[in-house]
Amino acid sequence: MIETGPAQPDDLGDILRIEQDGDASWSKAAFEDALVDGEWFLVARENRRPIGFAIGRFDGFDVELLKLSVSVVNRNRGVATALLLELLNMSKQKGAGVCHLEVDARNESAISLYRGLKFGLTGLRKAYYRTSDGFSDALLMAKDLK
Ligand SMILES: CC(C)(COP(=O)(O)OP(=O)(O)OC[C@H]1O[C@@H](n2cnc3c(N)ncnc32)[C@H](O)[C@@H]1OP(=O)(O)O)[C@@H](O)C(=O)NCCC(=O)NCCS
Repeated sequence: MIETGPAQPDDLGDILRIEQDGDASWSKAAFEDALVDGEWFLVARENRRPIGFAIGRFDGFDVELLKLSVSVVNRNRGVATALLLELLNMSKQKGAGVCHLEVDARNESAISLYRGLKFGLTGLRKAYYRTSDGFSDALLMAKDLK
């Protein structure tokens, strides 16, 4: 059974491994910082071991999804959906008005996930990410929570 809940310091090793399966853009120190104020750092667990994580940031008005990743072997099992639903639920409970996120325009699986959860397109940042073969655009997406 897959359960979602707050990340714990002991989860760091698994989280760093999952990050390597994704875009590997955050350092260990960045995850350690996120764990200090861990309320918006969610993990999905199976047999108590993290298999995915989501990190949000709440500014008192809106929530931003900073990070979302699922280990390769656990993809397409609804793990990211479960994490996002939990984050959106928390956001609503805290009174957030909107959940924002930014995604690489070439990341079809993530865009399909967000569209399925009724995120809409709100903006485009041209040539925002540097890639091995040039640049790619960033899509800005958002979902109203009220
Ligand atoms: C994007 C990611 C988080 C999806 O996680 P996941 O647990 O596999 O997603 P889910 O199983 O909850 O899938 C939910 C929906 O996402 C979409 N989706 C997921 N994987 C997909 C794929 N390979 N191709 C197309 N759509 C996909 C589908 O719409 C799917 O709904 P469906 O099962 O009804 O078809 C995962 O692939 C990942 O960790 N990727 C690397 C990190 C990353 O890109 N993070 C997002 C940064 S913005």
